[in-house]
Amino acid sequence: MTKLNNDLFDEYKLNNKLLLRNRFVMAPMTTWSANNDGTVSDDELKYYEFRSSGVGMVITATTYMSSSGKGFSGQFYAGDESMLPSLKRLSEAIHSQGAKAILQVFHAGRKANPSDMPDGKTLSASPIAGKREIDNTPREMTITEIQKTINSFKTSVDRAYRAGFDGIEIHGANTYLLQQFFSPHSNQRNDDWGGSLEKRMRFPLAIIKACLVEREEKNLENFIIGYRFSPEENSEPGISLEDTVKFIDVISDLDLDYLHISLNDFEQTSIRNQKDTRRIIEFIQETIKSRKPLIGVGSIYSIDAAKRLLDYNVDLVALGRQLLIDGKTIEKWQNGETPFSCYYSERKNSEFIPDQLHDEIINTENWVPKKG
Ligand SMILES: Cc1cc2nc3c(=O)[nH]c(=O)nc-3n(C[C@H](O)[C@H](O)[C@H](O)COP(=O)(O)O)c2cc1C
Repeated sequence: MTKLNNDLFDEYKLNNKLLLRNRFVMAPMTTWSANNDGTVSDDELKYYEFRSSGVGMVITATTYMSSSGKGFSGQFYAGDESMLPSLKRLSEAIHSQGAKAILQVFHAGRKANPSDMPDGKTLSASPIAGKREIDNTPREMTITEIQKTINSFKTSVDRAYRAGFDGIEIHGANTYLLQQFFSPHSNQRNDDWGGSLEKRMRFPLAIIKACLVEREEKNLENFIIGYRFSPEENSEPGISLEDTVKFIDVISDLDLDYLHISLNDFEQTSIRNQKDTRRIIEFIQETIKSRKPLIGVGSIYSIDAAKRLLDYNVDLVALGRQLLIDGKTIEKWQNGETPFSCYYSERKNSEFIPDQLHDEIINTENWVPKKG
């Protein structure tokens, strides 16, 4: 499985389609900073432009395709043709600095804010609240709502293409709607969309397939479609590594262009089976068996860590928080310099961090290493 020519700073062609100048990716990160009408704000454009000069590819903050899918205040919207100019400005900001641009699309499901919902109720697979105190109890989606949601993801392909993006990433991770359908905790349906593992897979699979069909129908063969997943849940019942391995085995045979694991630490071991000392990423690679490129992520704060991640045979290395701390990290590593290692409030403006994102960083304990 050893990959040749895998220096982090060498060019890399993603699934033989999209040439990237190196193997670094900016991980998708929500900024809470869009305009009230759902368009991307000037502050966000500057934030992206600043971070697009070093990495090979930028995956945007997640966006939503239907009003029931909105997850955050200040989230930009992609579910309507009127958003096309806003989306174009975003892809252009990223391209202007030489990075490729991938639009991440999601539906928040029960993690939406009920006050943002048209009828005050969030939607999910089943009427079950999440585990946090603030979590609301959603309404079970009807079959019509399921079909409409699948269709809203389908429309993202052509819209993202026309907005100048090089691809989309379907967000199946981090406990949002796709994961809520896959999880035996949040999905307790007993129709075709829940129950057995095969039925819990059905909703994310239907979304993936709808997007792949749309790409084919519109003749967009070079347009990238990736999929992000979280490997486990610590709830009981919850998604196990065994479930994930079966799902990944199935989607590795589809026409997706890459898979993107979501981990807080790339060397993480199982949170459900603490006796198992193997890295999750090893299980996943053994399942994929080189059928798909894999993006790895999670607490990469040094070039040595990035190299260690590459040793797990990942194709691309994604950085999130380190790029909030220092947007020029990649260039500095390439030049043998040391980037900043903590978030300094006084560097907010020189790093082009939007106000709302700054507030989240400052107010969330133990999230981003910080000083000042
Ligand atoms: C401020 C912030 C916002 C995030 N928003 C998203 C998001 O919109 N979509 C997503 O898939 N992951 C999101 N994540 C998770 C990151 O993509 C990444 O997986 C995580 O931060 C671990 O990588 P890191 O240690 O390099 O930061 C977010 C993380 C942070 C810090």
